[in-house]
Amino acid sequence: MRVLTIIPTFNELESLPKTLGRLRAAVPASDVLVVDDNSPDGTGQLADSLAAEDSQVHVLHRKGKEGLGAAYIAGFKWGLEAGYDVLVEMDADGSHKPEQLPLLVDAVEQGADLAIGSRWVKGGSVVNWPLYRQLISRAGSTYARLMLGMGIKDITAGFKAFRRTTLEAIGLDQVASVGYGFQVDLKWRTAKLGLKIVEVPVTFVEREFGSSKMSGNIVVEAMINVTKWGLADRWKRLNKRSNKA
Ligand code: GDD
Ligand code: MN
Repeated sequence: MRVLTIIPTFNELESLPKTLGRLRAAVPASDVLVVDDNSPDGTGQLADSLAAEDSQVHVLHRKGKEGLGAAYIAGFKWGLEAGYDVLVEMDADGSHKPEQLPLLVDAVEQGADLAIGSRWVKGGSVVNWPLYRQLISRAGSTYARLMLGMGIKDITAGFKAFRRTTLEAIGLDQVASVGYGFQVDLKWRTAKLGLKIVEVPVTFVEREFGSSKMSGNIVVEAMINVTKWGLADRWKRLNKRSNKA
C-alpha cells in the first residue's frame, strides 16, 4: 500500500528536520507531505530545502495560519488526488514517534479503516506532559465518549492512519472544525459510518523545542461541538423511535 505521512507545521524550525529524519529512517517507504501555514520562523523554506534533497518529501505552502484542521484537510486532498492508499497524520514536534508509525500502518493493512495511536489504552503512555494537559485530555476524552456514545479511549489523538476510502466516505468538505475539535470530528464521522476503528497503544512525548499552538479557545470549541453533536444525535434517535411507535 502507498503511504503518505502528512506533517502540519507552524514555527517548527528546530523540530521538523529531526522528526523528518527519524521518519525517513523508520519508514522509508512512506512519502511525506509537509503542510506549512507560512510560518514566520521560516519552517516553510527549510521544508523546501529538505524536499530538494529527497524526492519522497513534498511541501504544501498555505497563505497563513488557518488551524490544524484546515491544514490536514488540504493535505488529505493533495494525497487523495495523488492516489495514496493510506494517509497518516503526524505532528512535527516529535510527540508522535515515527518509530511507532509501522504499528498504525500495519493495523490498516490488516483491515482497520482508521488506526489511532492511543495514549489512553493499556500499554499507551505520555512522557513529560504537564499534569494539566493530561487532565484536559483524559477529562475531554471521557466527556466526549459519554456524550457521543463512542468506545474510543483517546478521542483527541492526533497520530492516526486513515485508509483512503475512509476519507472519501467522510466527505472532507463537510468538516469545518479546528484543533482538537477536528481530531474528534473525524473520529466521530468515521464511527457514524460504521467503519472499523482500531486503537494501538503509543507513547506520546512532550515536545523539546518550540511551543504548543493549542489554546483555551480550541478546547472550548471542541467541548461545544461535542455537546452539539451528542444532543443532535440523541434527538435524531428519539425522533426515529417515536416515528416508529
Ligand atoms: N499548518 C499548520 N497550521 N500546522 C499547525 C497549526 C496550524 O494552524 N497549528 C498547529 N500546527 C502543527 C504544529 O506545528 C505541530 O506540528 C502539530 O500541528 C501539533 O500542534 P501542537 O501545538 O504541537 O499540538 P499539541 O502538542 O498541543 O497537541 C497534540 O495533542 C492534541 C491532543 O491530543 C496534537 O497531537 C493534537 O493533534 C492533539 O489533538
Ligand atoms: Mn505538540
